[in-house]
Amino acid sequence: MKTGADGLQDIQTEMGDCTLCKLSEQRKTIVFGSGNPNADLMFIGEGPGADEDEQGLPFVGRAGKKLTEIIEKGMLLDRERDTYICNIVKCRPPGNRDPEKEEVASCKPFLLKQIQAVKPKVLVALGKPSASTLLGRSVAITKERGTWHEFEGVPLMLTLHPAYLLRAYTLENRQAVHNDMKLVLEALKK
Ligand code: URA
Repeated sequence: MKTGADGLQDIQTEMGDCTLCKLSEQRKTIVFGSGNPNADLMFIGEGPGADEDEQGLPFVGRAGKKLTEIIEKGMLLDRERDTYICNIVKCRPPGNRDPEKEEVASCKPFLLKQIQAVKPKVLVALGKPSASTLLGRSVAITKERGTWHEFEGVPLMLTLHPAYLLRAYTLENRQAVHNDMKLVLEALKK
């Protein structure tokens, strides 16, 4: 299997105009992923929202701006250069509902291949649906954030979703994400 940009290109070609699940019926665009195809750090969100569906890029709406701020102001990294960002499902769930089991199951092989192509040193799951999908069980994200796990042999950190952070913008939650990202930075230095 090819890695980096060529690997990602092959996966996108394989996806084509995917109709494996019903999310394809209402989407405008497939939101595949963005950033550095060889990044050490990979963030995995839940699914595209309206802005992402419109632009075909992940995390470009309000939650995306918050994520960019976490990466650039909090971690002092460059979003495009230092990270690769994608989602559990590549098409927008109508009304931003959580993706359903079958939708996640249809899309997961593409995510797996993306991880194998990018070969990040560290994965970060953003929020409960992402963490639960990667760990294969229901994750209590507010309790389990800040803890290390492993996915396909890659260290996996769980943290709060930036949209949740915006909804519950408390000092406690902001500090939690800050601490989680500090752990990620330490792991990246290893
Ligand atoms: N929320 C997500 O989980 N992913 C996006 O791409 C945008 C918002």
